[in-house]
Amino acid sequence: MSQQKTAEFDDLLKEDRSFPPPAEFARTAHVHDPAVYAQADRDPEAFWAAFAAELDWSRPWTRVLDWQPPHAQWFVGGQLNASVNCVDRHARGARRNKAAIIWEGEPGDTRTLTYFDLYREVSQFANVLKSLGVRKGDRVALYLPLIPELAIAMLACARIGAVHNVIFGGFSAESLRDRINDAQATLLVTADGGYRRGQIVPLKQVADEALQETPSIRHVVIVQRGDRSIPVHVMEGRDHWYHRLMQEASAKCDPEPMDAEDLLYILYTSGTTGKPKGIMHTTGGYLTGTYATTKLVFDLKDEDVYWCTADIGWVTGHSYVVYGPLANGATVLMYEGAPDWPDKDRFWALVEKYGVTIFYTAPTAIRAFMRWGTEWTARHDLSTLRLIGSVGEPINPEAWVWYYRVIGGERCPVVDTWWQTETGAIMITPLPGITTLRPGSASRPFPGITAEIRNERGETLEGAGGGLLVLTRPWPAMLRGIYGDPDRYVRQYWNRWGTDVYVTGDGAKRDADGNFWLLGRVDDVLNVAGHRIGTMEVESALVDHPSVAEAAVVGRAHEIKGQAIAAFVTLKEGQQPSKACADELKAHVAHKIGAIARPEDILFAADLPKTRSGKIMRRLLRDIAEGKALGDTTTLADPSVVARLKSQYEGQEG
Ligand code: PRX
Repeated sequence: MSQQKTAEFDDLLKEDRSFPPPAEFARTAHVHDPAVYAQADRDPEAFWAAFAAELDWSRPWTRVLDWQPPHAQWFVGGQLNASVNCVDRHARGARRNKAAIIWEGEPGDTRTLTYFDLYREVSQFANVLKSLGVRKGDRVALYLPLIPELAIAMLACARIGAVHNVIFGGFSAESLRDRINDAQATLLVTADGGYRRGQIVPLKQVADEALQETPSIRHVVIVQRGDRSIPVHVMEGRDHWYHRLMQEASAKCDPEPMDAEDLLYILYTSGTTGKPKGIMHTTGGYLTGTYATTKLVFDLKDEDVYWCTADIGWVTGHSYVVYGPLANGATVLMYEGAPDWPDKDRFWALVEKYGVTIFYTAPTAIRAFMRWGTEWTARHDLSTLRLIGSVGEPINPEAWVWYYRVIGGERCPVVDTWWQTETGAIMITPLPGITTLRPGSASRPFPGITAEIRNERGETLEGAGGGLLVLTRPWPAMLRGIYGDPDRYVRQYWNRWGTDVYVTGDGAKRDADGNFWLLGRVDDVLNVAGHRIGTMEVESALVDHPSVAEAAVVGRAHEIKGQAIAAFVTLKEGQQPSKACADELKAHVAHKIGAIARPEDILFAADLPKTRSGKIMRRLLRDIAEGKALGDTTTLADPSVVARLKSQYEGQEG
């Protein structure tokens, strides 16, 4: 950005502006009365039950909530099926011929599925799964590009009561293997490949490597996404082509009635240990939470063309590409590829081509668009947009204002939505018809949600102040546990200040008007370009390399990605630091975990700074990585280690 532009934005921010809802937007918004907060607060169960009642249940619930902290059951006794709610009920009614999914592949190929098409394909694939022996409760791993078959496979699992476990297509063979094994999945759905920046990612080849050590897998279904140029090894008896199986499958498949608390899916996410956690979401509460938040936060209407750019491999894709919008009967745009392929205006070309009205993306993308400049946005008509959203990491006010002005045309409310894989649905967010927006603030908890800020002693701060963000009331879409590790669920989230206080792991401050400002993670979890990565995972990958003796990983501030991974490494005796070695270590991490975990910097050190009790001092390392002046080092066992490291890093940087 030019200096003049930067100065312009600085001035803007000094104004400390706030943005009340545009009158025209507020007039037609689902929520136009702030009384919704007080109503939900008085009787949160009634608030949620009213949304649950908008779904189709095959048996009504007898009790809205059974809360035995920290274990919640929502809509006890009720039965429903997620695929019926996302597909059948629309395919039966007035939305039968409405586009459910408009999909565009990176090379430009397109497909549109109406709700009736989706109904047929979901039912067919549900029959395919059954024919391959999948039964209610079985886990099915999905390792696919962003193609309609991924949504179809998820809904087909839901239809027969199988539990899907989606693994992001950018993960490595080892990451795929570990997730399959932890979930003990019996079937894997993958593809020959997917497109990313003009290249083919050969998913089946990666899967083949994983499949050498996944004894629970009995069958593999392969979607043919590519142009048949991708070599695919088909193991007789185990591997089957999706299109062949679909040809023979009937389009009639009775949905399995599921208890509200039956498992819908497992999704792995990074935590503070080296081992990702399988977050469990159940059927009734999750669907209610995603349905309600999609409707209110995005002010979703039948005419909308809704586009959430997230990959379905992450929770944002589960809740806001698949379940939330489809439960609402929306038209969902899905795009397979990168925002800068073939050019940096691809997203805006898509907005124009399909007349997108609601657009939901991540701050890291917004900062990249901002850097690329308005020549790309100016090429397209973005006037169909009426609401834009942000998710995944704190959005800095500069990026917020740019998004509001350049993408939203100063006409669209910006919803900055805070939530987590564990929360299942949006927790802190504006409601676009009533909230006065402040750039950089996610504003306040969604109706029915209670968030507090606590200090280190667990005391709740009233009014303005900063500390740790906690949630103090159960909510329908909350995680129900960690797959295979019930103790970790309690220890990780509900153990600090009583079993009824959910500790988010995020820091936050609240201003005098009651707005929440999210400050990022306070634990050893990084957020790199909106992707959650545990420092321990990266450290384990590094020490797995034969040259590495010890590693410490920290996140340093990064202009586009929010955080970048900086890894401090001590080499084994006889190994010499070099650029080649650094590159090799970066490649090693990418190979072990996936490209998203590739360190930005490798910093060789003779020693790592430790406290007298032997703990690595990450705060110091972060300061070194960010080039900041060093704080107190008196608790260090050997303060000279830090001084050496710092001067050495400054040398390496230059
Ligand atoms: O630190 C918060 C950040 O992302 C974390 C959750 O990551 P994940 O489970 O991968 O889910 C991402 C998509 C919901 C949170 O603990 N985060 C997410 N949204 C925001 C955010 N930080 C600030 N503002 C947000 N809007």
